[in-house]
Amino acid sequence: LVFVIVGVALGVTLRHENDTFQETFISRCEKFKGSDCQKIWRAFEQAYVGRDPCNVPMEEYNPLVAAAPPQPACNRIMLWSKTKDVVHDFTEKRDCFGTLEDTLLGSVLDDLTWCGKEGSSETFTTGCPGWTDCEKNPVRSFWYRASAAFADAACGDVTAMLNGSISTPFYPTSIFGSIEVKRLNSTRVKSLNVVLVTEQNEVANCTNASLKDLQKELDKGIKYNCKEVEKSQIEECASDPQKPCGACW
Ligand code: APR
Repeated sequence: LVFVIVGVALGVTLRHENDTFQETFISRCEKFKGSDCQKIWRAFEQAYVGRDPCNVPMEEYNPLVAAAPPQPACNRIMLWSKTKDVVHDFTEKRDCFGTLEDTLLGSVLDDLTWCGKEGSSETFTTGCPGWTDCEKNPVRSFWYRASAAFADAACGDVTAMLNGSISTPFYPTSIFGSIEVKRLNSTRVKSLNVVLVTEQNEVANCTNASLKDLQKELDKGIKYNCKEVEKSQIEECASDPQKPCGACW
């Protein structure tokens, strides 16, 4: 009897875990009017379900990206690295820029963890590999693939918020450094405008050595600019809807 009770409890928990994740996915997806969220869910699931959670290469998400391609608006693209909070505080309050997390796939999967298991058709949200536990985990591969698609679609003047409170604001192994910068294409992208977010204890400025490496990675023909901007100034502009986007920094 004990085994039956434990078994049923475990079954109910698993079922619950599986359903809640899918419900979150679908309800976040449905905020994007006109999307076929069931179809997008199936394209998502096929990437990792039934697979070893350390062997999900980013290409497994090709069908998902094809089902819901990011369509960023030219001149409004915002990339970032190590500045997630300040960037999203700004983009939530002001309609000036769009990040990957504002696109369908990015917003649906932001802050979620998921994985599959060999021999199972379920989605798990606990016991999944962490970001650095193994390279080809389902979450990391998704963000690599989605970021690649976002950068491929970038056009016009692109903005990137980097962190001036760390010694290497441009980090070659970050997603921004290893994927996005490399994929900006000069036939579509006119310029990359770095906003280096500084605080009282400014550690890096626009002359930082890592930013020289960033310029070397850029496709020739893409203009590069860098501006140091205080975090408080960004926060003020976020809270001042009267101020034109172009006057924030
Ligand atoms: N552990 C857990 N999560 C991580 C880790 C890690 N070691 N590294 C990165 N992440 C995830 C987190 O969700 C984190 O908030 O990636 C996010 C961004 O990581 P950063 O190192 O701050 O930045 P970066 O790797 O450059 O990625 C940001 O990629 O998401 C796209 O378009 C987006 O331009 C943005 C860039």
